Amino acid sequence: MSTVLIRGGTLITDRHTYGADIFVEDERIHDIAPHIPPETADRVIDAAGMLVMPGGIDVHTHLDMPFGGTTSSDDFETGTRAAAFGGTTTIVDFAIQAKGTKMRDALDTWWKKAEGKACIDYGLHMIVTDLGTSGLEDMDDMVSEGVASFKLFMAYPNVLMVDDATIFKALGQTAKNGALVCMHAENGGVIDTIVQRALAEGKTAPVYHALTRPTRAEAEAVHRSIALAEMAGAPVYIVHLSSEDALNQVREARDRGLPAFAETCPQYLLLSIEELERPDFEGAKYVFTPPLREKRNLPKLWDGLRHDHLQVVSTDHCPFCFADQKHLGKDDFTKIPNGGPGIENRLQLIHHHGVNAGKISLNRFVELVSATPARLFGMYPRKGALEVGSDADIVVWDPNALHTISAASHHMRVDYSMFEGFEVRGNARQVLSRGEVIVEDGRFHGRAGRGNYLRRQARGGAWN
Ligand code: URP
Ligand code: ZN
Ligand code: ZN
Repeated sequence: MSTVLIRGGTLITDRHTYGADIFVEDERIHDIAPHIPPETADRVIDAAGMLVMPGGIDVHTHLDMPFGGTTSSDDFETGTRAAAFGGTTTIVDFAIQAKGTKMRDALDTWWKKAEGKACIDYGLHMIVTDLGTSGLEDMDDMVSEGVASFKLFMAYPNVLMVDDATIFKALGQTAKNGALVCMHAENGGVIDTIVQRALAEGKTAPVYHALTRPTRAEAEAVHRSIALAEMAGAPVYIVHLSSEDALNQVREARDRGLPAFAETCPQYLLLSIEELERPDFEGAKYVFTPPLREKRNLPKLWDGLRHDHLQVVSTDHCPFCFADQKHLGKDDFTKIPNGGPGIENRLQLIHHHGVNAGKISLNRFVELVSATPARLFGMYPRKGALEVGSDADIVVWDPNALHTISAASHHMRVDYSMFEGFEVRGNARQVLSRGEVIVEDGRFHGRAGRGNYLRRQARGGAWN
C-alpha cells in the first residue's frame, strides 16, 4: 500500500483549527505533526493555502430505491461517485423492509445493490415497515450486522407508514439494543385527507404537493415522535426537518434535556415553496417530502444550525429524472415520485452559504457535515475525525475555488439540478477515501466496488 503525505495545510476538525501535516499509511492516518519529511512518502500532496478536513458523511441517501412505480436514478456506483466529487466519503443509505418479510431479506437486497458498485464506504439504516411477531428480534439481528439505526415513517399511509404502537415498540427495543431511531415526522393521516380533498377539487399541479402538507402536520409528528421516545426511554433523530414549527418542537425538547436530535438538508436552507410554481411542470423537480416551505423558515433553520437545535446537514438525496420519472405525475401531483438530487453539492452549498456568509464557523461546518453524523451513527472516530488511527477519509478543500452548480457538469445521474446556476466559493480539490486519492482536480480516480460496507456501533453519540 502506498503512503501519502498531505503537507502544509490547515487542519479543520469539529473542535480545532491548526497547521500540520498528515501522513497516511495502510488506509489510516498514521501521523499528524508539524513538519513530516516529504521523502518518507510515496506521494506528497501540497496543501498550502488549503483546508484539510475529515471527509463528508451523508447519513441520508436513497440510491437505487424503488418508489411510486419507479426507482431513484442514481445507483450505488453513480451516486457514490458523485458524492466523492463533492467531498463526501461516507454515506448511510436506507434498506427497506418489505411488509411481511424479514429485515435480513432487505439487508441482503441492499448489500447486493451496493456490491461491486460503491465507490466510497457505506452503511445502511433499516426502514421498518412491519413489526410482526419476530420483528423486535429482527431489530437486534440488524444491530449485530452493524445496522445501528432504523427509520420509521409517520407518513405515506398504506405504503411505509406505521402506527404509534409500532413506533413505541421499536423505540423500546432500541432502548435495549442501543440503536438510534430516525423518524420521518409528518402526520400522514391528516395529510392524506387534505390531499384527497385537493384532488377532488381538481388541484393537480405540483405546488399542491406543498400546499397539502402544512407545517403543523410536521410539528405535530415531531412532537409525537419525541413524546414516544421519551416514554420509551430512547433517543430519537428527526430526519429532513423543514420548518420553524417543527424546529420549535426539537428545541423545546432539547431545552428539557431530552436526547432529541434533528437534521435538515440544503434544499430547506436555500429554497422555498415558490420553486413548485415554476411553469411547464418544472415545479415537479422540487417535489419531495416534507415539501419546501415559505421563505421565512430559512433563516430560522440557519439559526437552528448555529445554536445546535439542529445537529446535522444531510441531503436526502433521492433523484428522479425530470424527463421521464417526474412526468409520471403530469396530471396528478400525488404520482410525482418524491425526492430530489443533492449528494454532490452538500459541502459546497453549506460552506458557501454557511461559512462564507458568516452564519457558521468552519469548525461548525465540519461538525454538521461530518463529525456529528459520525458520532450519532456509530462511526466516530473511525470516520468524521482527523486522528491517528482514523480512516484516511480526507478532503483537501480549496476555500477559494469558484464553481457554478449545473446539471451540465454535475456527476449525479439525473437531468436537472435543484441548485442550477448557484455560484459557490469553496470546493474539494483532492478527496481521499481510506488513503486512496479518488478525486483530484475534477477527475475521478477511484473505482466501482472499492467502497466497503461499514459495520456501525450501537450506543453512539445519541446515548451519551
Ligand atoms: O421525498 C423524499 N424525501 N423522498 C425520499 C423518502 C423520504 O421520505 O426520505
Ligand atoms: Zn423521509
Ligand atoms: Zn429520505
